[in-house]
Amino acid sequence: MFEDLQPAPTDKILALIGLYRADPRTDKVDLGVGVYKDRAGKTVVMRAVRAAEKRLLETQDTKTYLGLAGDLAFNAAMADLVFGKSADVTRIRSAQAPGGSGALRLAAELLKRTRPDAVVWISNPTWPNHIPMMRGAGLTVREYPYFDAESGTVRFDAMLAALKEAKSGDAVLLHGCCHNPTGANLTAAQWAEVADLLVARGLLPFVDIAYQGFGEGLEADAAGLRIVAGKVPEMLVAASCSKNFAVYRDRVGAAMIMGRTGPEADMAQGHMLAAARTLYSMPPDHGAAAVRIVLEDKDLRADWEAELEEMRQRMLRLRVAFAEALRRQSNSDRFDFIAEHRGMFSRLGLREDQVERLRAEHGVYMVGDSRINVAGLPEDGLDKLAKAIVSVLD
Ligand code: LMR
Repeated sequence: MFEDLQPAPTDKILALIGLYRADPRTDKVDLGVGVYKDRAGKTVVMRAVRAAEKRLLETQDTKTYLGLAGDLAFNAAMADLVFGKSADVTRIRSAQAPGGSGALRLAAELLKRTRPDAVVWISNPTWPNHIPMMRGAGLTVREYPYFDAESGTVRFDAMLAALKEAKSGDAVLLHGCCHNPTGANLTAAQWAEVADLLVARGLLPFVDIAYQGFGEGLEADAAGLRIVAGKVPEMLVAASCSKNFAVYRDRVGAAMIMGRTGPEADMAQGHMLAAARTLYSMPPDHGAAAVRIVLEDKDLRADWEAELEEMRQRMLRLRVAFAEALRRQSNSDRFDFIAEHRGMFSRLGLREDQVERLRAEHGVYMVGDSRINVAGLPEDGLDKLAKAIVSVLD
């Protein structure tokens, strides 16, 4: 039965985990998968999450089903975190989902049910799973230009020009903050311009927000999404808690709908939940329950925000220090953009063969498009790493 199968395509990012683990070198450097690491290279359980899990273990007295939408209090707390306190929650409905990926897929399934012929416009470049995921839901994908590798900046005019070709009813996938893989983000003014274009052309914003708190701060990172929410009649959001609560393996996310009216949002949520039923039925509870406890408890929330801010500040310091090390080693300002970018990633602008040489000759692992995970940079070995990078340049 399976003899006719050809090998499945491997995921570029996840493949690196296995390669890195199998490498016996002790001075290897992991800049691959987007997982936050501390100075010691550890991905720790956040303090507030650990405390919430303890409370959960002590107080949870049943594990009976919660229902298709998962933990309703988690959903409300997430809508508040993402859309902000002043949002019109009467038009917002959510479904707890297995991670940001589950949320993306749920939103895509809803789109397929409501606009089967819609095109989803996706930034070029983007997270490698976006396109397969949208196609997996049966949607058609087109790309809009986003990044100028030479200058390390957003190609905003080209992005707008491409989106002017979109047809009413198409969806535009936008990275809410901390663009993955480039780290180059829209300014508030650019978000407003994009929102105006979406309204003028009848396009549906579909915002993927997976790194809230990793860029400019918890509130600032949601500012673009909120600008859009304030202008458009409807939108979709896929939010992830994997990174900002460090609950990667617990699979915690939320798919959110902002409808024209409450009843329309209810109708859309019903379809999203029906899609969930056919995909996995109900989302896992544990991680979302822990996140909900953190968000609802004043002290735990304050501690979570403080730890998240420490993580963000560390990544900012690493960006500056790494850009300086590269400046020293290359005698050029070619990599200065790293200090300007925000979030977990930047793209170095290397060719795939140069990335491959870094892995083979120096034990430095990064995604083939030269995306680095800033949190993986070795604090005490930045010059050594910068030297290795410069050694593979032409
Ligand atoms: C990444 O981009 O490295 C993360 O989002 C992990 C993943 O699932 O790809």
